[in-house]
Amino acid sequence: VSDAGTRLATDPAPLRAWVDELGAIGADAAGGTTRVAWSPALRAALDWLAATCARLGLAVHEDAAGNLFARWGPDGDDAVLVGSHADTVPQGGRFDGALGVLAGLEAVRLLRDAGYEPRRAIVVAAWMDEEGTRFKTPTLGSRAFAGHDLSALAGATDADGVTLADAMASWGRDVARLPEAQGVDGIAACLELHIEQGPVLEEAGVELGLVTQIAGLLGLRATFTGTAAHAGATPMGRRRDALSAAARAIVALEDWAAGREDVPVTVGIVEVLPGGFNVIPGECRFTIDVRAQSEQALDAAEQAVRAALADAAAHGGVEHAVQRTHRLAPVPLDPELTAVLARGAAREGATTLALASGAGHDAMQLAPLVPTAMLFVPSDGGLSHNPAEHTSPAACHLGARVLAHALRELTS
Ligand code: GLV
Ligand code: MN
Ligand code: MN
Repeated sequence: VSDAGTRLATDPAPLRAWVDELGAIGADAAGGTTRVAWSPALRAALDWLAATCARLGLAVHEDAAGNLFARWGPDGDDAVLVGSHADTVPQGGRFDGALGVLAGLEAVRLLRDAGYEPRRAIVVAAWMDEEGTRFKTPTLGSRAFAGHDLSALAGATDADGVTLADAMASWGRDVARLPEAQGVDGIAACLELHIEQGPVLEEAGVELGLVTQIAGLLGLRATFTGTAAHAGATPMGRRRDALSAAARAIVALEDWAAGREDVPVTVGIVEVLPGGFNVIPGECRFTIDVRAQSEQALDAAEQAVRAALADAAAHGGVEHAVQRTHRLAPVPLDPELTAVLARGAAREGATTLALASGAGHDAMQLAPLVPTAMLFVPSDGGLSHNPAEHTSPAACHLGARVLAHALRELTS
């Protein structure tokens, strides 16, 4: 048995240079990185990735959903996929998603430089629109790859009224051709490295996380409708203020969630219309993001949220409507594939902890179909979805080496 690929370089600098180069694409005034789905910044990031992969001699392909794949190794339908997403939240950091793509690429580079040749292909993936920020379509690319019917999403609109169909057309893509992105038949396993995005590993003083399952997520959009009226001339007792009713609802949601801890609820976008200094708000629209580790908890949370919204609307004398934008079930990951990652970590002498992911990931779309496992590296201060998101170069590289060991075990 050859030991090619067992001795991996340990210099963290090249991976960090990639993280910084990619993070500079879509750099925003807040010091963060903004690359939402189908934006020019994300296009530039994928072009950079494609060129970087091509320089390493990988065969690059972008599918009908805007997912980018870089293949190393022989043809066949038993590839091992490794990757994450290249899109970001508004004013996000350089690590969420991007590190998973680049660590996969670094693992390939390390193995190749160590003289290894895979017997089945390793495919580095950058999924389209994991965050779902723009159209409330999280994990769009990996859902398309998994073969989901996404035709109902074509008319989804962003904050400027642009439809998903039009946004895709700006990249020369046709929303009607999303089904062509189905590709899960060509892979045998899926690995995703990601920053933890929370404080557990850092607080435990552990180097790597082995993810047991991924929380489910539910997205709702609420609209409260009152009556726009004159701020000075309308007596307080005669108002139907959509914003004050919505504010009451938002605080009620926070109080409900704070009382239980295991089901985080977040209102992340609030729009107030018509938006005049001297106009009582006639309409208020806001998003609600709910996470839970079981279907039952997600169901119970949805009921509680809907009841709190109805109460607040009734109290304020306004109408309200609630629409579900997305719901992704919680997903367990594959214990055997996770054990492959654990063996890789043992090879590096790294400490590990089993933990559940509170954040959603592309891996949740693959896990029901092929063995899928996730590796977490710690997030400094537990911070993510923030420009200050950071993980040390050494911690990032340790994660990449563990991926490399796992990829070698899976493809030799
Ligand atoms: C992805 O970052 C999510 O919203 O969990
Ligand atoms: Mn994210
Ligand atoms: Mn992510």
